[in-house]
Amino acid sequence: MATDKIQRTLAMVKPDAINRASEIENIIREEGFTIVERRQLRLSRSEAEEFYGEHRGKPFFLNLIDYVTSGSVLVMILAGEDAISHWRRALGPTKVSAALNEAPSSIRARFGDQTDDSRNAAHGSDSVTSAQREIKFFFPDLTLEPVLTGEGAKEYLSYAVSPTLVRALTELCKVRPEDPIVWLADWLMVNNPNKPAVDE
Ligand code: TYD
Ligand code: MG
Repeated sequence: MATDKIQRTLAMVKPDAINRASEIENIIREEGFTIVERRQLRLSRSEAEEFYGEHRGKPFFLNLIDYVTSGSVLVMILAGEDAISHWRRALGPTKVSAALNEAPSSIRARFGDQTDDSRNAAHGSDSVTSAQREIKFFFPDLTLEPVLTGEGAKEYLSYAVSPTLVRALTELCKVRPEDPIVWLADWLMVNNPNKPAVDE
């Protein structure tokens, strides 16, 4: 697999689409993203104004702040190849009417408010810089290691993943369990080399 453009992006399900969040999450998984973190919260006005700071002063700003503070939002860190543009493509155009015309199967076309262009159901970061800022905004305490690529990724796999996986697969061949996937998952839970040494 090409790992040279694995990125993280911030996705947000906006208030009036929150009751359809599970459908949107299904699309996210079908599209091949990994949901690294998720959090449901209600934004205060000042938080929303900070999050959308680049739009302060624009004619739609107040309306936008009213909208995103009108109920809970679900924020997620998505990871995947080219995640930033991939997620923007899945969202479709900013305005719901444009989404309906130009990308009828997009998320904004399917989940946005057909009577109000601004209520477009979901958000996605628009660049690497925005993604970093927006992820930090919602997940300030999260330490994310840089995504390894090329030789670095190979090296990591060979010292951190392969030894455990080789043991697991060797054992699996011996045991020949009826459901190998469940068996492997259980084995990895029990034999996770990174699990805390002391039970909580
Ligand atoms: P913007 O960052 O331009 O769009 P996107 O969400 O696609 O990155 O705008 C932020 C939000 O502001 C957008 O999702 C909906 C709202 N908005 C309007 O209501 N009217 C507008 O004309 C624009 C440009 C945005
Ligand atoms: Mg934007």
